[in-house]
Amino acid sequence: RRTPVALQEDGSYVISTYRELTGILHDPRLSSDVRNLARPMAAVEGRATPSFINLDPPEHDRLRRLAMRHFGPPHTPGLVSGMEPGLTATVSGLIDGFADEQRIDIVDEFAYPFPVTVICRLLGVPREDEPRFHVWVNAIIESIDYDPRTDPQEKLDNGVQATKDLREYLGGLLEVRHGHPGDDLLTRLANDDGPDGRMTDEEIISTANLLLIAGHETTVNLIANGMLTLLRHPEVLRRLRAEPGLVVPLVEELLRYEPPVQIIPWRAAYSDITVGDTVIPKGSQIMLMLASGSRDPDRFEDPDRFAPDRQDNQHLGFGSGVHLCFGGPLARLETQIALTGLVRRLERPGLVADPPPYRPSPVLRGPLHLHVE
Ligand code: HEM
Repeated sequence: RRTPVALQEDGSYVISTYRELTGILHDPRLSSDVRNLARPMAAVEGRATPSFINLDPPEHDRLRRLAMRHFGPPHTPGLVSGMEPGLTATVSGLIDGFADEQRIDIVDEFAYPFPVTVICRLLGVPREDEPRFHVWVNAIIESIDYDPRTDPQEKLDNGVQATKDLREYLGGLLEVRHGHPGDDLLTRLANDDGPDGRMTDEEIISTANLLLIAGHETTVNLIANGMLTLLRHPEVLRRLRAEPGLVVPLVEELLRYEPPVQIIPWRAAYSDITVGDTVIPKGSQIMLMLASGSRDPDRFEDPDRFAPDRQDNQHLGFGSGVHLCFGGPLARLETQIALTGLVRRLERPGLVADPPPYRPSPVLRGPLHLHVE
């Protein structure tokens, strides 16, 4: 409240209040093109073409439209709308795998494998190759918040290498799909004849890469944060068992109360921008503290309370503006099915450690492990 815009020692600015964040997220003078940033990021260095999350209009808009056409809803018939039975089966299979164990790790045994499996199926990655994705996605995500002042060079190198390996793999898979089409996203992108024309192979690879990175760890953390929050609010957990429909507003509230994406670190000012009383000079890097905006007391009543029935829950968990997460419908569906499955099947789950150990990332928030007995 006192400092909606703060200047950091390294010259970057941090914005943390709801009104200022929503204003700036819709401001065309702000760039998401990481080539404009003072501190380059690993995932970018390994790429020829940044994916559209790190591009500005009009390049961004064309690629986003091309990808979104296949994703639905509301662009139905899309890939997501038909996924529910498969997601439910995947969740049941994972829970069957640990149902008899005394103690389980919700992260390693459930939240981590679930979304990567889902995105691999969506893209059309053969099942036997899925474990390799875990390794690549992990290395890339760890390198995203690489800081040369404190982190070993190895962290950056691993991210760059994993990005190269992943792109090479996706390139090979795309080649196969050109010759042998399947019912998957890579095939659809490779054969698109819509109004925007077709993506180049390079653009398809960047987009597939983006979906994997943007859609994996975020969903892992939402599921794990969700289970942790339910274990801390046993009355809500009991209610969810009795009222399965509660899961819809509950997941929205999780996105506000325990959002996986805490900060967007990759915005830069194209020109001088005045926010409140502060002039942010052209070229500055700007960090957007979405998680803070979603707990702004000027926007949300009693913001530090977990209230699954909250009305008018316009949180910033998926961002806002031209880069609004388009994986939202999939992430919501995955998390709803995951939490419903877990509370139904775990009879009296109890937390082993509270708080659990957390991932060491300022950008993505979620437990490293979540042991439950
Ligand atoms: C963008 C959060 C799941 C694909 C974003 C942004 C946020 C976000 C905050 C905005 C980034 C920015 O403004 O720079 C989340 C959360 C998720 C989730 C919290 C899970 C709980 C997914 C999934 C997918 C996905 C499952 C796809 C399979 C994308 C893409 C963008 C994006 C492609 C870039 C959109 C653009 O630049 O136009 N996400 N996401 N996300 N997300 Fe998600």
